[in-house]
Amino acid sequence: DDPKLLESRPPVVTIMGHVDHGKTTLLDTIRKTKVTEGEFGGITQHIGAYQVTVKGKKVSFLDTPGHEAFTAMRARGAKVTDVTVIVVAADDGVMPQTKEAVDHAKAAGVPMIVAVNKMDKEGANPDRVMSEMSELGCMPEEWGGDTIFVPVSAKNGDGVNDLLENILVVAEMQDLKANPHKMATGTVIEAKLDKGRGAVATLLIQNGTLHASDAIVVGTAFGHVRKMVDDLGREIKTAGPSTPVEIIGLNSVPIAGDVFKAFDQEKKARQIAEARLQARVEEERNASSAMSLEDLAK
Ligand code: GTP
Ligand code: NA
Ligand code: MG
Repeated sequence: DDPKLLESRPPVVTIMGHVDHGKTTLLDTIRKTKVTEGEFGGITQHIGAYQVTVKGKKVSFLDTPGHEAFTAMRARGAKVTDVTVIVVAADDGVMPQTKEAVDHAKAAGVPMIVAVNKMDKEGANPDRVMSEMSELGCMPEEWGGDTIFVPVSAKNGDGVNDLLENILVVAEMQDLKANPHKMATGTVIEAKLDKGRGAVATLLIQNGTLHASDAIVVGTAFGHVRKMVDDLGREIKTAGPSTPVEIIGLNSVPIAGDVFKAFDQEKKARQIAEARLQARVEEERNASSAMSLEDLAK
């Protein structure tokens, strides 16, 4: 991209951690404190990704990536997240999936912030969390390391603003930029088949701007964006970098982690999808003939 066309974009944040340590509760609390009820007719979350505004700055959160989805995306080479928040329950400490989350963040080269959750609980022991995390190579800043720890209670909201401010600081150090002045590219976050609407896909736009009516190709699926809505279910006509949207209009259901690309003409999207389909058919044919040769050799 021409550096002159680059503009700041919001950070994309994923929340990871051991089962029941409070990831979903934390995401709900962030959303509740940042989207005023009544503003858009309530806070019903429409898709598994959302954007909030913190001190006038937008931050996108991905709600879906559990470990499996995250692993699958990483295996496919998709890099969707800029900051990882690792949630550790203060009454439970570091657990196997906490370690996995740290490994994921390290392998992806993504900065992490540790949210020490459930601080409202009687058995909360943040010092233990900090020492166990230090053993994983995540030494707290206050102990001379470089990992930020923020004590929070997802249940009553304590510390959540502090966590959000730290996310902004870490994001700003990365100087995240994208070019909104071109056709969109990004990643499928989740997708499903809806009886009435056909293939429904949640996309994270990572570069460029997606317009309602653009043609897109993702894997072997293609089509026109027939309708695009934001995280509150409001119909929108354009969406820029780091925005999660839900779209309909693809001719088949794409795979989470696949990369999409937008075009101004459907013909191009169709050609790419058809070429991929053809390549896949040939691959399968070659694989099956290789297998029959193996059989012959026996
Ligand atoms: P999985 O998605 O199943 O891995 O769980 P999760 O990490 O999303 O945890 P979830 O938000 O579902 O919370 C698990 C339980 O912990 C629920 O009963 C929450 O109410 C409770 N919980 C979450 N955060 C807090 C907190 O800050 N304080 C207290 N006391 N309970 C909490
Ligand atoms: Na849970
Ligand atoms: Mg959850």
